[in-house]
Amino acid sequence: IAAQFGPKPLAGRHALVTAGPTHEPIDPVRFIGNHSSGKQGFAIAAALAAAGARVTLVAGPVHLATPAGVTRIDVMTARQMQAACEAALPADIAVMVAAVADWRAEAAPAKLKKDGSGPPPLSLTENPDILAGIGHHARRPALVVGFAAETGDLIAHASAKRLKKGADWIVANDVSEGVFGSDHTHVQLITAAGPEDWGPTPKQAVAERLAGRIARHFDGTP
Ligand code: CTP
Ligand code: CA
Repeated sequence: IAAQFGPKPLAGRHALVTAGPTHEPIDPVRFIGNHSSGKQGFAIAAALAAAGARVTLVAGPVHLATPAGVTRIDVMTARQMQAACEAALPADIAVMVAAVADWRAEAAPAKLKKDGSGPPPLSLTENPDILAGIGHHARRPALVVGFAAETGDLIAHASAKRLKKGADWIVANDVSEGVFGSDHTHVQLITAAGPEDWGPTPKQAVAERLAGRIARHFDGTP
């Protein structure tokens, strides 16, 4: 990035990044979660900070060090993540990498016990879509980037998500290939112009390439 634009192409820009899973409590000791490691989102936050942006990283429960120069806000649930994102606006750039739990349960106030009457029923409620909220927000960032984890027809599913959620770009991952927790991934960048195959790459390289692409977007270079 530095060779192309000088050392701080995103100086003066505020970037909001979400990363990691969310945990939705069932009772005081159990939760619904997923296998997101947070590595991709943290790498993107680091790359945007290295490019000069002021970065607010809203992180779900992960075991990762905060990248240099990044302001981190730790949250547990999707609704907390949404509130933290709203509070972080205005931003110029939003990159929503978190694997937000799609559903939450109504958390029991006390630990659920085996009482001989069989497993407790779990009644699930859909969580708010944080990316769609930001993509359609009155104070929408100028550039909104989402991620999509898909199996099956990657490009069709991700392109539909781009439109539905009001995102400019979607970074689409084929998760049938064992991406979670890995340092490697295979992504397509979906823009209004269509898909670009970035091939199999380390997550670190995806972060740097995306930050470079964002810098170019604000620089006005096509
Ligand atoms: N996302 C979000 N809030 C949610 C669900 C997803 O902000 N409640 C964001 C993710 O951070 C990601 C994008 O939406 O940037 C796509 O997430 P994904 O799970 O692939 O899409 P969903 O809309 O949840 O659809 P599904 O899981 O049913 O494929
Ligand atoms: Ca989902």
